[in-house]
Amino acid sequence: MTRIKKVYLEANEMPRQWYNLAPDLPTPMQPPLGPDGKPITPEMLAPVFPMNLIEQEVSTERWIDIPEEILEMLALYRATPLVRAYELEAALKTPARIYYKNESVSPAGSHKLNTAIAQAWYNKQFGITKLTTETGAGQWGSALAQACALIGLECKVFMVRISFDQKPFRKLLMNTYGATCIASPSNETNTGREILAKMPDTPGSLGIAISEAVEAAVTDPEGKTRYSLGSVLNHVMLHQTIIGLEVKKQLAKFGEKNPDTVIACVGGGSNFAGISFPFIYEKLHGANIDIIPVEPTSCPTLTRGPFLYDHGDTAKMTPLLPMYTLGHSFIPEPIHAGGLRYHGMSPLVSAALRDKLINPMAIDQIECYEAGILFARTEGIVPAPETTHAIAGAIREAKKAKEEGKEKVILFNFSGHGLMDMVGYDKYLTGKLVKHEMDDEELFKFLKELENYPKPQ
Ligand SMILES: Cc1ncc(COP(=O)(O)O)c(C=O)c1O
Repeated sequence: MTRIKKVYLEANEMPRQWYNLAPDLPTPMQPPLGPDGKPITPEMLAPVFPMNLIEQEVSTERWIDIPEEILEMLALYRATPLVRAYELEAALKTPARIYYKNESVSPAGSHKLNTAIAQAWYNKQFGITKLTTETGAGQWGSALAQACALIGLECKVFMVRISFDQKPFRKLLMNTYGATCIASPSNETNTGREILAKMPDTPGSLGIAISEAVEAAVTDPEGKTRYSLGSVLNHVMLHQTIIGLEVKKQLAKFGEKNPDTVIACVGGGSNFAGISFPFIYEKLHGANIDIIPVEPTSCPTLTRGPFLYDHGDTAKMTPLLPMYTLGHSFIPEPIHAGGLRYHGMSPLVSAALRDKLINPMAIDQIECYEAGILFARTEGIVPAPETTHAIAGAIREAKKAKEEGKEKVILFNFSGHGLMDMVGYDKYLTGKLVKHEMDDEELFKFLKELENYPKPQ
């Protein structure tokens, strides 16, 4: 009998609602705070986001309907396949059954299009004509550029300088979809100009690019521009839960119940939230599932950072968010997983860690590239550098299952392909990448700035 390699879903099997973890958290979420230390009201966010998305941001509804038009656009590439990694299992000689959800099949190349389509649609409904955003690796910028083209919005992307230089094709992809893409820090905003004056050779960071994109949105004299964020915020986590909700139905078609282990890489937390929150729901209802976010050792927010109130960006334009953080001034080393170079973390993912629902792991980039290469040579797809962190985590767990002689079911999120990230592979293959871990002094120096900030309970 031919073994089943991958499972899709029929149109009538597609999830029609997103799952919101907030109402199910054992400890209620703490609100974002303004500069005066008082909770932010939805009205205060209105210059930055449209009110229909702010409503989702603060929603305490467990299930939120996905509008029909969004479902139709998602159907361009969803359901994404759930794939059994037989070849990787064989190479590892593991008794574990490894499954991966292949989000790289979206036209822009990653999971980011799931929320890009939703955000562009809600902005358009609200009468907005232009979106600004930041991008690290370029995956989010490409996804928003594509969504804006589909929906009919202008799009301007501030791309972190180091990635802008390393990945010229990402910029061209954004241009092809009709978006403008400039390197951050730029000369177009006060934030960018100030940073360039102090550090003309800075590689940039997601925190700086966010500040620039927010500034560009709120200074539109016509008030028709809003800012769109590709991760971190509650509504972004919400839109990504379609990933895990599909997986549940697909695993059942493989004849599996719940996985034993769920793994994804974490930058701001969105692909991790997407695959894991529906399984955290199962865990809260008694299932025994180990849920593992994997981050780089050079930006170890969840494994080494404290849970504090901090800004989401470098120029302190965003409210204070309750999250694990390395400090908003932290500029991570320019490792190749650009999308994982973020000082903070989604407040919902942070709350899940504070409530001990997840077990984070940090892995060095060399081990991640080794995992990415093994995956490419066995399963055939070249992973994005971010995604290699999830694969390396899955390989560690599969080896553990072998040592323990356990037939575990390991699920991981294949968040994106790396076909535009070959410079990183070149550096790895030619031996130019180094192992990178920070000592405490270096890592924690930016936390001093937060000493007088309000503290989460
Ligand atoms: C392919 C890919 N995976 C993962 C990430 C990390 O982001 P998040 O934690 O929001 O999923 C990124 C971010 O750019 C990405 O491009």
